[in-house]
Amino acid sequence: MNFELSEEHLMIRNAARDFAQNELKPGVIERDEHQKFPAEQIKKMGELGFLGMMVSPQYGGGGMDTISYVLAMEEISKVDASASVVMSVNNSLVCWGLENFGTEEQKQKYLVPLAKGEIIGAFCLSEPEAGSDATSQHTTAIDMGDHYLLNGTKNWITNGSTASVYLVIAQTDVAKGHKGINALIVEKGAPGFMVGPKENKLGIRGSDTHSLMFTDVKVPKANRIGEDGFGFKFAMKTLTGGRIGIASQALGIASGAYELALNYSKERKAFGVPICQHQAIQFKLADMATEIEAARLLCLKAAWMKDQHLDYGLSSSMAKLFASRVAMETTVEAVQIHGGYGFVKEFHVERFMRDAKITQIYEGTSEVQKIVISRSILGK
Ligand code: CAA
Repeated sequence: MNFELSEEHLMIRNAARDFAQNELKPGVIERDEHQKFPAEQIKKMGELGFLGMMVSPQYGGGGMDTISYVLAMEEISKVDASASVVMSVNNSLVCWGLENFGTEEQKQKYLVPLAKGEIIGAFCLSEPEAGSDATSQHTTAIDMGDHYLLNGTKNWITNGSTASVYLVIAQTDVAKGHKGINALIVEKGAPGFMVGPKENKLGIRGSDTHSLMFTDVKVPKANRIGEDGFGFKFAMKTLTGGRIGIASQALGIASGAYELALNYSKERKAFGVPICQHQAIQFKLADMATEIEAARLLCLKAAWMKDQHLDYGLSSSMAKLFASRVAMETTVEAVQIHGGYGFVKEFHVERFMRDAKITQIYEGTSEVQKIVISRSILGK
């Protein structure tokens, strides 16, 4: 077994690290405080190829593997998790879903500009009463012959107002349960489509989270992804890969907070010595470093399995469950190591602690990951 990264992987990681340090770090505290979307930075990420990393060059993407994506996601998330969630949703959910299940026409029209980062996309599954219980869709897409009539509300949608293309999951035939659900491509500006107010969030405050309202929105049949009734499976398959992206985001949040705590512990003196010379701090650092390494290995294993076209559902849920727990625990410890400084914004770690929490909630809560994992190990 070879744990060494290739030259190409190292180059991608360095490029993402440089971008994060030079372009994302300046202003990250202000963007978080004022809930400002990193518009300029996202545009540059698109130009550098970070928004369509795994898409085939034929459709304007970078043609990279999932390992490259994990490495880049970790570096971007080490600095700005609000930017990395945009990257994750665009790559893993929107581009991957379209490339794997879209028609050639849909790929030319939507995937190409999405992969080039000229526009960004949103993935719309959650509803006021359908979060973990994703089959309980109340948004309806009634079959009108040549189009669907879309009605309903979606909640907590990442890129809610900044996206140009929305993949919307909706119920066409209630009697068929999850087999009566469809995934539709809806364009911004479609008559009857309204973006609700921005959510005022605990973390990832620079990202753009909204409710969306659909009232008699006409969606052409040509905008359905896959066969009639494929929508729920589309969502599940897409989220399975998405969870690798969010696991890598959690990993980056943890490793970003850990590096700050490590550096701080070498500089800050207490009782006559740098605090890293106290065993209480050393033990914390040892635990943090070990847990982060384990989370990294789980993320890379899930990515490798996806790249090898193996069944990666169990690995992606394990990576997300574990990495998000590590993110939460590590960021709390990073604040603790910083003491009073950790509680103020200038030292970054309090933001990491707030950002970490969402990784245990979106793209399936920790409890959802445990359902997926336990079903897999019990053979259900
Ligand atoms: N791949 C392919 N098919 C799958 C699948 C997968 N990973 N998981 C389930 N399915 C299929 C099943 O095989 C089944 O099909 P059949 O009936 O034909 O066999 C069908 O889907 C229904 O599956 P379940 O019976 O397992 O469904 P369930 O109701 O028990 O739910 C669940 C399972 C795992 C809890 C699922 O509902 C789930 O993942 N919920 C969480 C949803 C989620 O992650 N939401 C995140 C919102 S998006 C987001 O956060 C993006 C963002 O903005 C950052």
